[in-house]
Amino acid sequence: MNLEEAIVGRYSCRAYLDRPVPRGVIEKILDTARWSPSGANLQPWQVAVVQGETKERLSGALVETFERGEKPAPDYPYYPKEWPEPYRSRRFQCGMALYQALEIERDDKARRLEAWKENYRFFGAPVALFFFVDRVMEQGAWLDMGMFVQSVMLAARDQGLESCPQASVADYPEVVRQVLGMDDDKRLLCGLSLGYPDPDHPVNNYRTDREPVESFTKWFE
Ligand SMILES: Cc1cc2nc3c(=O)[nH]c(=O)nc-3n(C[C@H](O)[C@H](O)[C@H](O)COP(=O)(O)O)c2cc1C
Repeated sequence: MNLEEAIVGRYSCRAYLDRPVPRGVIEKILDTARWSPSGANLQPWQVAVVQGETKERLSGALVETFERGEKPAPDYPYYPKEWPEPYRSRRFQCGMALYQALEIERDDKARRLEAWKENYRFFGAPVALFFFVDRVMEQGAWLDMGMFVQSVMLAARDQGLESCPQASVADYPEVVRQVLGMDDDKRLLCGLSLGYPDPDHPVNNYRTDREPVESFTKWFE
């Protein structure tokens, strides 16, 4: 797969085939992604690969926490507190495109909630990855983490897999830490569902748009 096709063809996959991913394939993806750059080559990424019975337990705990209406308590704020333009409109469009693909009416709150809950079921993916960074690390390391996660997503495509990055599963880091038996010394940045895509599911058959280059670029010559 050429690089442009890998980047442009990537999409957030929200329905997966019931087909296991061999451990060797996951190892190969991480083995490629570890060549991502990082400031001073600190390589701050720490990954939990969650599958099988542990994934089911974690999914159950997250769904239960969400259904209980527990207030999200992420290790860091991912989104702004306020939503000025153009971010408000982009966020709105992003949600609308998803609900349209799933044929969910705008005011059908129950089905919207069900759709959101799929996050905590990892959209049926056989593998869920969780990305952590030591709490001592500053925001520079988070930049490194972003590059690492993109490398994972692209390397996954090279193996015939698709993925969906998920801040939603980082809403309840204590639940994740508790089920995985992890200490509090690392921040949970996000999760990533990973697996073979279900090409026939409507949720995988729409694509998000992007602004043109001139809208975000200033040239100084
Ligand atoms: C760090 C990060 C967190 C995200 N969290 C979620 C999430 O919790 N649930 C979800 O369905 N999509 C999530 N997304 C996917 C975005 O909605 C998606 O990347 C964006 O709409 C662009 O669409 P595309 O990935 O299909 O190109 C996340 C994306 C990123 C990069």
